[in-house]
Amino acid sequence: MKAIKKAVFPVAGMGTRFLPATKANPKEMLPIVDKPLIQYAAEEAVAAGIETLIFITGRNKRSIPDHFDKAYELERELELAEKHEMLDLVRNILPPHVDCVYIRQPEALGLGHAVLCAKPVVGDEPFAVILADDLIDAGEQPCLSQMVEVYNRHHCSVLGVERVPMAEVSRYGVIDGQRLESNLLQIKAMVEKPTLDQAPSDLAVVGRYILSPAVFQKLELTGRDAGNEIQLTDAIVKLLKKEQVLAYEFEGKRFDCGSKLGYLQATVEYALKHPQLKRRFRAYLQDLQIPSLD
Ligand code: UTP
Repeated sequence: MKAIKKAVFPVAGMGTRFLPATKANPKEMLPIVDKPLIQYAAEEAVAAGIETLIFITGRNKRSIPDHFDKAYELERELELAEKHEMLDLVRNILPPHVDCVYIRQPEALGLGHAVLCAKPVVGDEPFAVILADDLIDAGEQPCLSQMVEVYNRHHCSVLGVERVPMAEVSRYGVIDGQRLESNLLQIKAMVEKPTLDQAPSDLAVVGRYILSPAVFQKLELTGRDAGNEIQLTDAIVKLLKKEQVLAYEFEGKRFDCGSKLGYLQATVEYALKHPQLKRRFRAYLQDLQIPSLD
């Protein structure tokens, strides 16, 4: 059994729902309070034992390597100004044993295609995929760590799922499964963005995956859909005909930071927990006079 040591971060999407903020910057660099989404995702991966972070980048993605690289000039200036706390912050973005690899997705041909771009670096071992715009606040044990535990027990692909309101199922990949444990199902079928009457359940796949390397071969066999994208869901549907694929209902609260509302909700909730901000921000919200809509 191979341990999960590599994580893929697809960051090559167009981010159209956040234009114009995403015109020159990837949405994964949007900050929640004081940290970009991609850093929360990288920290979650490192906490789960990941040692190689593989970023699939597209246009305008220079800021992501810049964020994880050493910033010589900034460090020098903080040193001279004796701002030691801030110096530590920028020096310790990632622990020294963690490597970053950047792969360019030449065209935004969908999430499945982005994951396939990682094949030469992932090779023949199971790996994680994290979509940084799904920010998951899970407290003690981050979502990917919970999923690695499930993988260590079952040695197969594991998808992070959560219940969503039926009215929203058509925004997600939705699974049909047989329950094995209180929070674990064996996936029998999966439909990408189903209509309400096609949806097999209200269990939606969110941006956390542990995948067997066999998914690469399935992705190679998956054609483009009507929107000219290669869907990861289509490849997983092929995979589950050959291998066990589990759906894990993780513990934690997910924020869909690819949408403006989810992004604002995450900002408020993370600010209310931020050590230096929480008191003043709470007082501000309590005093806020919310104007009526008409
Ligand atoms: P989304 O479905 O959220 O698409 O992608 P998007 O383009 O980023 O955003 P909108 O819908 O236009 O606002 C899901 C994930 O897959 C990545 C995105 O960066 C995001 O993490 N992705 C998507 C790629 O890396 N490449 C692609 O071709 C498409």
